[in-house]
Amino acid sequence: MSTTKLTVAILGPGGVGGMIGALLARAGHRIVCLAGEQTVTVLRQQGLRVDSDQYGEFTAAVEADTELREPVDAVFVTVKQTALAEALDRVPAEVLGTAVVVPLLNGLDHLAVLREHFPSAQVVAGTIRIEATRTAPGRIVHTTPFANLELAAPVEEFADHLRQAGLGVTLREDESAMLWDKLAFLAPFALLTTRHRTDVDTVRDRHRPELLTVLDEITAVARAAGTPVTAEGLLSFFDRVPGPMKSSMQRDAEAGRPLELDAIGGAVLRAGAAHGIATPATARLVAEVSQSEQRAS
Ligand SMILES: NC(=O)c1ccc[n+]([C@@H]2O[C@H](COP(=O)([O-])OP(=O)(O)OC[C@H]3O[C@@H](n4cnc5c(N)ncnc54)[C@H](OP(=O)(O)O)[C@@H]3O)[C@@H](O)[C@H]2O)c1
Repeated sequence: MSTTKLTVAILGPGGVGGMIGALLARAGHRIVCLAGEQTVTVLRQQGLRVDSDQYGEFTAAVEADTELREPVDAVFVTVKQTALAEALDRVPAEVLGTAVVVPLLNGLDHLAVLREHFPSAQVVAGTIRIEATRTAPGRIVHTTPFANLELAAPVEEFADHLRQAGLGVTLREDESAMLWDKLAFLAPFALLTTRHRTDVDTVRDRHRPELLTVLDEITAVARAAGTPVTAEGLLSFFDRVPGPMKSSMQRDAEAGRPLELDAIGGAVLRAGAAHGIATPATARLVAEVSQSEQRAS
């Protein structure tokens, strides 16, 4: 068991970043949240406040700043894709030191952006399975009985620190397979629940033919990208998801926030085009969600 204490920066202390920052701070690590001035002020005064089915209610004191000003051991990048370019200005590459940079955004294309901005070898692809919502600056409500990360690098010691703080961590060898395992479920879930403005139960009940077609398309793209997922396997997972579950894209649409449509749907279409796989049903869904986002704005 490692007893070293880390200094970890969290770029975007929202649902995901706030949850990870609070757990690591509670475990004794030094946490520096990087955010806009308003959130920085709140975090300095009140810390991160968590209400979690799994971890209980607690407040964790953290540091906060608008910019990274000293080297750290790790940086979690947990902004949404729509805010990534602007947020990266808060982490100058020359200040980073030897830190690992762990993005937990959904999608695929943010990795290339980060590997342009930072030394490529320091960027470790990650995914997270969790439902955590930022209800106000510094306030996080965590509603799943799990918070499970996957990291595509042999970062055993770092993973041990995360586990000791209460997070589930699996180390993966194949970055592309790790990202596609997540996207192959997320893309149909997000696109269909957002397009039809309904929960997963209604999607699998009333929109099943469309669900099957989209699963066929997306799993064909994932397989062409080297990940052995099948439509049958994903459908059986879909059928076991709790019925009232909504996607975060749908919650963003309901709240009038920008959607990660390009990161999630756009990524599938680009990969399909690159591998010569037709994705007409997915393309139609992306176009329809985009149109309703434009109408709402
Ligand atoms: N939430 C989930 O359950 C979940 C699960 C799996 C994956 N994900 C993925 O994780 C990523 C993050 O999602 P999230 O739900 O955690 O988002 P979120 O709750 O909206 O949090 C994003 C955070 O980024 C901050 N931010 C926005 N612009 C910024 C900027 N320019 N500089 C610094 N910080 C900035 C926001 O600050 P303010 O607090 O000041 O607004 C907010 O704290 C997304 O790609 C999402 O798809 C989320």
